[in-house]
Amino acid sequence: MEKKIYIETYGCQMNFSDSEIVASIMTDKNYESTTEADKADIIFINTCSIRENAEQKVLNRLKQLQVLRKKNPNLVLGVLGCMAERMKTELLEETTAGSKVDMVAGPDAYRDLPQLLLDVETGQKAVNVILSAEETYADISPVRYAGNGVSAFISIMRGCENFCTYCVVPYTRGKERSRSVSSIVSEAHDLFERGYREITLLGQNVNSYRYKDEMNGKVIGFHELLQMVADIDPLLRVRFATSHPKDMSDELLEVIARNQNICKAIHLPVQSGSSAVLKKMNRKYTREVYLQRIQSIKTLIPEAAITTDIIAGFCGETEQDHQETLSLMKDVGFDFAFMFKYSERPGTIAEKKLKDDVPEDVKSKRLQEIIDLQNKLSLKSNRDDVGKVFEVLVEGRSRKSDKYVSGRNSQNKMVVFPDDGFKPGDYVKVKITDCTSATLKGVVV
Ligand code: 5AD
Ligand code: SF4
Repeated sequence: MEKKIYIETYGCQMNFSDSEIVASIMTDKNYESTTEADKADIIFINTCSIRENAEQKVLNRLKQLQVLRKKNPNLVLGVLGCMAERMKTELLEETTAGSKVDMVAGPDAYRDLPQLLLDVETGQKAVNVILSAEETYADISPVRYAGNGVSAFISIMRGCENFCTYCVVPYTRGKERSRSVSSIVSEAHDLFERGYREITLLGQNVNSYRYKDEMNGKVIGFHELLQMVADIDPLLRVRFATSHPKDMSDELLEVIARNQNICKAIHLPVQSGSSAVLKKMNRKYTREVYLQRIQSIKTLIPEAAITTDIIAGFCGETEQDHQETLSLMKDVGFDFAFMFKYSERPGTIAEKKLKDDVPEDVKSKRLQEIIDLQNKLSLKSNRDDVGKVFEVLVEGRSRKSDKYVSGRNSQNKMVVFPDDGFKPGDYVKVKITDCTSATLKGVVV
């Protein structure tokens, strides 16, 4: 009988995309995937190290999974991803995970998973946390086991070499490398043929995508890649994440502006509104440069939604610095934001060289002020959309009522409207009649 494998994923979109690669590698070796943990012979937890609470969540989950091991003594439990890379063999110690982990595989070791499972069977230590300078899994076609059949991720590059001082990613995901243009374009093409209507090109910093064509030696940058993917079909929507403000070029903005099927949604993590804090973070731009980039976006793509990431309470952040973050948020008028308290990560430059000196209660208070302001900005942004008409790509039934369907507009806002026999993948013109800070509601026009 084929062994059943269950994959649970934490963290960023890149991790979800990696889990699809893992599923592909395993099904190629005749493992069968299951969506029920208690039916599995093998459980892989694909993990995230970005903040301490992300790791804590995984450690708690590993403890919980102990129950399944009691039921099935042959269960194999593997930890994949960023925590595997950061903690390595430490994870094999029962005291760390509160449960026995059998296998540890970092983000560049997934081709080795079948071998690692054999090592577990023969009682050997099953650990591979070797980072690679070349691995892009370009030839592996991901199994879209958890998707909605309409939108999919395509990973275009791996790793990161920006070394923001707070960030663990350069250590867990290694050197930056870009996947070949032809493998990306053919994967996007194939998804379109299979009925997918939206793809998101993924990388830790997509703006530094660079691939040298083997045939003619020409170097392709991100804006050229984006154009090639957009050219596949006008009915294929294209998104991308994440961009670094320091390399967001006008050339790229022009490509977005020119193509109706490249979504008008730009995620541009600012992290802080204070130039002094940005310097300590090694972000390589100032408040002013960031605001200039925003101005270019607003000039070239007036209808674009702009979203961001913000960290509250980084090392040395003063009340004045915090006020500058709030004022920048108002100046830009972000449509949406992911907001976090600074969490010191072992091995990062900040951990080694800077002091995590903002008291916990101050971090919490600042984060709350940031969240409260963003809620107002999001509500204002949505209210401004009432009366407008958007083209919405239907993803499925609304979670709240089966008389409604939901989908996203180009700006990546969730739109809910009455079902009129729509199918996932349909494009529908919807006039917005009402909203909350999180969702737009509308009627078909
Ligand atoms: N603490 C808090 N937030 C962090 N991020 C990255 N590292 C940390 C950290 N140590 C946030 C940044 C990044 C997002 C993915 O996570 O805002 O853009
Ligand atoms: Fe988490 Fe970053 Fe790793 Fe993604 S790359 S899983 S966000 S640590």
